[in-house]
Amino acid sequence: MDSAAWWRDAVIYEVYPRSFADGTGDGTGDLPGLTRRLPYLRDLGVDAIWLTPFYRSPMFDGGYDVVDHRDVDPLFGTLADFDAMRAQARELGLRLIVDLVPNHSSNEHPWFVEALAAPPGSPSRERYIFRFGRGSRPPNDWESVFGGIAWERVPDGQWYLHLFDLTQPDFNWRHPQVRAEFDSILRYWLDRGVDGFRVDVAHGLLKAEGLPDVGYPDQMRLRSRAELPYWDQNDIHEIFRSWRAILDSYPGDRMAVAEAWVSPPTRLSRYVAVDEFHQAFNFDLLTAPWSAAAYREVVDDCLAASATVGATTTWVLSNHDVRRHRTRLGGGLPRARAATLMMLALPGSAYLYQGEELGLPEVVDLPDAVRQDPEFHRSGGRMPGRDGCRVPLPWSGTAPPFGFTTAPAAWLPAPASWAELTVEKQAADPASTLSFYRAALRLRRKYAGGTLAWHDAPANVLHFTGRGGVRCVVNLGRRPVPLPKGYRDPLLSSNGRLTDATLPPDTAAWF
Ligand code: GLC
Repeated sequence: MDSAAWWRDAVIYEVYPRSFADGTGDGTGDLPGLTRRLPYLRDLGVDAIWLTPFYRSPMFDGGYDVVDHRDVDPLFGTLADFDAMRAQARELGLRLIVDLVPNHSSNEHPWFVEALAAPPGSPSRERYIFRFGRGSRPPNDWESVFGGIAWERVPDGQWYLHLFDLTQPDFNWRHPQVRAEFDSILRYWLDRGVDGFRVDVAHGLLKAEGLPDVGYPDQMRLRSRAELPYWDQNDIHEIFRSWRAILDSYPGDRMAVAEAWVSPPTRLSRYVAVDEFHQAFNFDLLTAPWSAAAYREVVDDCLAASATVGATTTWVLSNHDVRRHRTRLGGGLPRARAATLMMLALPGSAYLYQGEELGLPEVVDLPDAVRQDPEFHRSGGRMPGRDGCRVPLPWSGTAPPFGFTTAPAAWLPAPASWAELTVEKQAADPASTLSFYRAALRLRRKYAGGTLAWHDAPANVLHFTGRGGVRCVVNLGRRPVPLPKGYRDPLLSSNGRLTDATLPPDTAAWF
């Protein structure tokens, strides 16, 4: 792999630290726990880790509500723990990217506390978005991603904007101090040796001048499809260009990947112009239904859009915000494994989410009392929220909390049925999902680079030459299909066995 562009082809593993491994025995995952388990990630065969927020935070949104962007929350450890984890990852050959959360802060951030203590119109309010309402109504009709209106009223009558939870006031990115502060935060972590950043809600930083009404309700259903005055504004790109200049001023292939729920792919490709982000998550595969036609269209559109700007495409099936793909795709483990094998054959880089390598399902029956996600609470339970994909990993043993913690219980309970899915159990079983991921990642390294070419295939079957010339056949239909002529012994198949030259439903194979 060309080391100057390690990310172009990489497999990047998302660690959600609260739920990865607990090193201190308090029931919550942390940096010492992660450090201890790093050899597991090396053995899995990933190239890099994306670590979601571990910064000081009251944890109203799992750490995406940051109070101090330059310090580790005591829940997760200390800066020394971070440095030790960084050093150990480097030793094991794992790159590290960290989350940057620039759209909003916590409402306990010193700037917001200062803003609330100051009267309307004072300079400290200008670092956030404060406005007077329209009579007793909020300043405009914008809605929060987590449900309800996006404004909260403060005692003196002004309102502040929060596109997420009301504990997450949006920064005013037209303010020079906000820009200077984040330039400095970028440098702080680059100096501490991170290889790059995953930028949270990158498409939201700038709001349309004048904060115009949207004009209709239920805006979040159209989250990435519609033109909304708070997403994907044309003048946003100048901010990213200035960040790129900072990244480029450091030695050693630093990179940034944007979380931008933007559509169509041509709009998204603007974020990966040569002087902006190196990558942007591409969520189209994640939102596509299990259908050959849909997948083919997504793959073509995404590859074409990134080719126009010379970038590589990123592929994602699961993350900490969506239903795990084993559950979401509706076909259980076989379908999830087939989807993964297909994704790993595509040119570009792949982002995996912790636990997908164990074939974890979404936990759909968490009791309301343990749910923590503001999405669940703000929507009055109408939206199930994202706790079901954040249940701590099962490492070992036969009963919850499955070696995740030495405390009697983890912060979210794992189902008893996960006894079959522990790392310990799967590592010893060559037919397990963990062994399948390990084999796929090992093999994937041998087939680097390359472009994609489709071959003729029956309805509901995909057949393509992908990265490094690997041939991939996927059956997305309901009946077994004959393998293409000349195909007999697969390099790897998602179900572990192919008999008599047919490919069962929900199965993929590499040749
Ligand atoms: C992103 C994160 C999500 C968080 C939100 C607000 O979408 O991935 O977990 O809730 O931003 O920061």
